[in-house]
Amino acid sequence: MSTHGMTTDDLTRPAGTPAPAPDSTLRPTLPGRWYTDPELFAREQARVLEATWCCAVRGDDVAEPGAFRRVQVGRESVLVVRGRDGRLRAFLNVCRHRGALLCTEEAGRTRRTLRCPYHAWTYGLDGALVGAPNLRAMTDADRAAHGLVPVALREWLGYAWVCAAADPPSFEGEVVGAVGERLGDPAAIEGYGAERLALGRRIRYDVRANWKLVVENFMECYHCATIHPELTGVLPEFARGVATQSAVGHGAEFAPGAAGFTVDGGAGFPALPGVDPGRDRRYFAVTVPPTTFLNLVPDHVILHRMTPLAVDRTVVECDWLYAPEVVAADADLSRSVELFHRVNLQDFAACERCQPGMGSRAYAAGGVLVPVEHHLAGFHDWVRNRLGEP
Ligand code: FES
Ligand code: FE
Repeated sequence: MSTHGMTTDDLTRPAGTPAPAPDSTLRPTLPGRWYTDPELFAREQARVLEATWCCAVRGDDVAEPGAFRRVQVGRESVLVVRGRDGRLRAFLNVCRHRGALLCTEEAGRTRRTLRCPYHAWTYGLDGALVGAPNLRAMTDADRAAHGLVPVALREWLGYAWVCAAADPPSFEGEVVGAVGERLGDPAAIEGYGAERLALGRRIRYDVRANWKLVVENFMECYHCATIHPELTGVLPEFARGVATQSAVGHGAEFAPGAAGFTVDGGAGFPALPGVDPGRDRRYFAVTVPPTTFLNLVPDHVILHRMTPLAVDRTVVECDWLYAPEVVAADADLSRSVELFHRVNLQDFAACERCQPGMGSRAYAAGGVLVPVEHHLAGFHDWVRNRLGEP
């Protein structure tokens, strides 16, 4: 799945399986309580959000030894820390003494250790317990048994990806492979060199809507003609509602009059050096379920990280990444950023418009999916299966 012009064969259809024949029937959505019931949300936290890989922190945001960021992954608070050896590690943000959160700030930098503010147990940047006041008799074994609990971490596209599960699924399969499959070419993503790009702009959106409304919105383009005038101006095929669903690896072509992926169709920046010439006037969108969305255009990469905080609240952080020389030259990014910023505002307003309806008697049995939205049923099945629901 992915944003505006995603492929239909999103979460459940194996690679290479032909798209199902289009049909004109209406299909059901999830019932309204899936978007309002805190008990269901708690199960999603455990079985979806904590059980999958999520894109947590841009590596450049924790560049120095001792730099850390705190992220919420399902019910878990997770610390991503740069060690003195330059390595990134992640830990559950919970002191092993009596369970205090080690860090409550979103980000910071420490010198050599992480010190619990409650009774001052102290941990190395590698998570090892290195000190506890008045406990000289603590044995090495006690110490070793009470280090911070590690969380699986992988670096890819310039981000630290974490999985809070004790036994994470394969990163290569679930993340790298899935992106390659959606793009129709495992090597295509490398051309954008996301790990070498620089952050041009970051905007955080606090969306008062269930996370699945955000995902569903990203997955369909039925709304594009209604609410995205700027986007459909640059990508005219999106106005048909079908977007790029028809084929894996399909990118939406820029309008003949559009010089770049900008709010007014004016020129952007030179194409990133590794981008294949066949992709240099096209927009690609890929989703890494359940919380990461990637948008690829010739001169920049847009990455959305979604953090579901409550059944009706989702924080979305959107990064616009450009060639380092573009950012270093202090180039004017405003028309470039403005296009997807408007799309984000338009999309999130739509999600917030739906959230109150989810609790209405009118939506108790859910709504319907029209044919160009039928692929959303694959996402619904994916969530249901993870929750063990029929
Ligand atoms: Fe952290 Fe006591 S809870 S030192
Ligand atoms: Fe949209």
